[in-house]
Amino acid sequence: MTLAFLHAAIGDDLKRVDAVLRGSLDSDVALIRRIADYIVGGGGKRLRPALLLLVARACGDAGGHRYPLAAVVEMIHTATLLHDDVVDESSQRRGRATANATFGNAASVLVGDFLYSRAFQMMVGTGRMRVLEILSEATNVIAEGEVLQLMHAGDATLTEDGYVEVIRRKTAKLFEASARLGAVLADPDRVREDAYASYGMHLGSAFQIMDDVLDYTGEAGEIGKNLGDDLAEGKMTLPLIRALAVGGDAERTVIRHAIDGGGRLEDFAPVRAALERTGAIAYARERAADEARRARDALAGVDAHPDVATLLQLATFAADRTY
Ligand code: IPE
Ligand code: IPE
Ligand code: MG
Ligand code: MG
Repeated sequence: MTLAFLHAAIGDDLKRVDAVLRGSLDSDVALIRRIADYIVGGGGKRLRPALLLLVARACGDAGGHRYPLAAVVEMIHTATLLHDDVVDESSQRRGRATANATFGNAASVLVGDFLYSRAFQMMVGTGRMRVLEILSEATNVIAEGEVLQLMHAGDATLTEDGYVEVIRRKTAKLFEASARLGAVLADPDRVREDAYASYGMHLGSAFQIMDDVLDYTGEAGEIGKNLGDDLAEGKMTLPLIRALAVGGDAERTVIRHAIDGGGRLEDFAPVRAALERTGAIAYARERAADEARRARDALAGVDAHPDVATLLQLATFAADRTY
């Protein structure tokens, strides 16, 4: 499954968002401009702005705030990626060298801060306290999620519930906030807002579970990132947690040895084989499909609209994706 359906539905609006992004990332500081160009030009699926725009349109938004706010959620996403790639010591993203590999860790952290603070300037520009409330809470929860994950690095006792807690915060929260903002822009009806927010939260969860599956099973050329980054840093994602829970002694030994080894290249193939053998990969895919189903169910009560049909497809993509 590809994202062609999404670009057909919202591609023109996303071009406007890219124009806002370019305009917003201007700075007198040359290195900021350079890194900003590198980021915007480097592509990315633009899922969070697409989500905000689709929900806003489905709810009948007629105002002008949705383009800058769609840019804002992409900027927050990009800031988290800049920081995340430093923390994860990742060298590839979107099919090319990461900003930390190209410009260094210090530059990545500082430009990430620039993006966050510019995003907040733009939110204030909407003049709506509710928007600030939603996004300040979201950024705070995302930071908590990343710290929580760091605390669990190499922790073979992390449970599936503990993992879900991490991904709800570090990833699903921004999907939830993007969907909620789309509804808030159009209309203050709390019932609809919560339905879209719940959709976003489950969509984001499906999306992250599949990201964690693809870190073991994807094609590097397709996902634009290196495989094995998670194992290399002892990140306890669902495939590993499941294999430790249901695997035999042999599988558990292989996985624990790899986690304790701190990222030896030769550990990747045996761990991947153990994940396949225990059915842990298939299990994680099922859990992603489950979250996608819950995302679609959340929209059961909202009015039919072509953009709602696109959101339903997006949930299917999140659980079926190969990139
Ligand atoms: C990557 O997000 C980080 C995760 C939450 C898994 P995306 O896969 O949406 O990243 P881009 O923007 O398309 O590169
Ligand atoms: C998502 O986790 C990171 C954020 C939500 C910031 P990952 O660490 O799995 O994302 P990738 O794989 O680097 O894109
Ligand atoms: Mg990462
Ligand atoms: Mg990942």
